Amino acid sequence: MTQENNKSKDYAKYFDFSTAKVIKQEEGKTTYRINGREISINSAPNHTEEKRRGKEDIQVHYDAGIPDELKEIGKDKHYIIYTFGCQMNEHDTETMKGMLEEMGYQSTEDRKLADIILLNTCAIRENAEDKVFGELGHLKHLKTEKPGLILGVCGCMSQEESVVHRIMAKHGFVDMIFGTHNIHRLPYLIQDALFSKEMVVEVWSKEGDIIENLPKKREGMRAWVNIMYGCDKFCTYCIVPFTRGKERSRRPEDVIAEVRDLARQGFKEITLLGQNVNAYGKDFTDIEYTFAHLMDDMHKIDIPRVRFMTSHPRDFDDQLIDVLAKRGNLVEHIHLPVQSGSTQMLKIMSRKYTREQYLELVRKIKKVIPDVVLTTDIIVGFPGETDEQFEDTLSLVKEVGYDSAYTFIYSPRVGTPAASMEDNVPMDVKKERLQRLNDSIKQSSRQIHDNMVGQVVEVLVEGESKNNANMLSGRTRTNKLIHFEGSKDLIETFVHVKVTDSFTWFMKGELVTEQVPM
Ligand code: 5AD
Ligand code: SF4
Repeated sequence: MTQENNKSKDYAKYFDFSTAKVIKQEEGKTTYRINGREISINSAPNHTEEKRRGKEDIQVHYDAGIPDELKEIGKDKHYIIYTFGCQMNEHDTETMKGMLEEMGYQSTEDRKLADIILLNTCAIRENAEDKVFGELGHLKHLKTEKPGLILGVCGCMSQEESVVHRIMAKHGFVDMIFGTHNIHRLPYLIQDALFSKEMVVEVWSKEGDIIENLPKKREGMRAWVNIMYGCDKFCTYCIVPFTRGKERSRRPEDVIAEVRDLARQGFKEITLLGQNVNAYGKDFTDIEYTFAHLMDDMHKIDIPRVRFMTSHPRDFDDQLIDVLAKRGNLVEHIHLPVQSGSTQMLKIMSRKYTREQYLELVRKIKKVIPDVVLTTDIIVGFPGETDEQFEDTLSLVKEVGYDSAYTFIYSPRVGTPAASMEDNVPMDVKKERLQRLNDSIKQSSRQIHDNMVGQVVEVLVEGESKNNANMLSGRTRTNKLIHFEGSKDLIETFVHVKVTDSFTWFMKGELVTEQVPM
């Protein structure tokens, strides 16, 4: 949970291009010297550009890959990627791992063995950023011991002007900074970093195109599949529309082909990913194809479970509810971030729905899918939030009856509209609200689990339980964690388990039927 209260730190002062010494200017890149370090900038992040939402068509590229001459570059070398933040970042890491392994690099967990270390960063709250700067501090020592080590910073923080300036000025030992739209350029950036002594900065601010066919290293039996990138919602507290660019949907045929292929490979569950999956397809100019259509097509694919993240209540339409009601492989779990239960707060957050509209959506969903599991995201302590408005959040939480929720103290992000709003809520009040909210959610989660005792649930067995090697752990269709006794042969299969004990965040049970065919 976040601790910060004050205005987000603005590091823009660290680096001033107008006074930095230019030592080389070549086509498309400028090399500066700052604090004795040469920094070669192919492109730097630009907040004004990131706000732009151009009308030009999105280009889909099917020909990105690793050029033959770079396929040996990582032979006998090792890599580590540290990933911070959301599933989108986890999935980007899978892509980068895929690329690195095609370049000959092998994965390691031993820092001393690593020849390349990447930090795939998150910018959503200040504490996420603090963790990355803390990690950079540790890596500085490693770099001193092993000067040949390539250190890279990528992900959402690298899209922020102020962060890139701070790294350039204060963390000159970093070798590469690249943005969320530049991931496919990784092989070339590594080549540059290996063969030049300069820090390479390549962060495109223009909304990225869609790059298909990049290699991906997936593990386990659950896979993430991007269906769209970016976000056009511009909630006033959120940095994502700036760091991830404009909304752009992958072509349905590409998504469907990827999911079919994952099914053929034996994956048991896929999660469709997007910052606002309900906006899927809105950018297509040649076809009428929405998220409801996509889910209907997913329903026809022979893969046991299909999930999706994240929904925006404003775009969640009746067609989608009707498709989800078909069930089958479409599971009864919807993550539906509400952020606040107060209509006035929602307005200031620019969420574009009222408390009543949200509750109406929940009613509609529950009518058609009575056993649906709803989870949510909530922010407390937004600038100006009154006690009454917070009470509205508490009462909404009770009314909806969420199974669980991610809860956050508001964290100001440089460049977002909320960062310049006056924040008159003291930190101790924010913390107290968070505590009360968490207590209420814990209570409702426990109550829901208590009511499940005696029910038989379908479980996808993931492996041995983390705390007890004699037990197995798995997930229900609604993503609830359950532990039970059973043979290790059941791992990666579906079984039926009767719930015997309930706890706040998990359940215990006994095996009823082994290996349900799927
Ligand atoms: N401060 C606190 N929480 C935030 N989130 C997004 N931006 C902020 C911020 N500035 C939360 C929202 C979102 C989740 C992914 O992170 O609840 O749904
Ligand atoms: Fe951020 Fe709002 Fe977009 Fe979600 S919908 S990514 S909270 S701007």
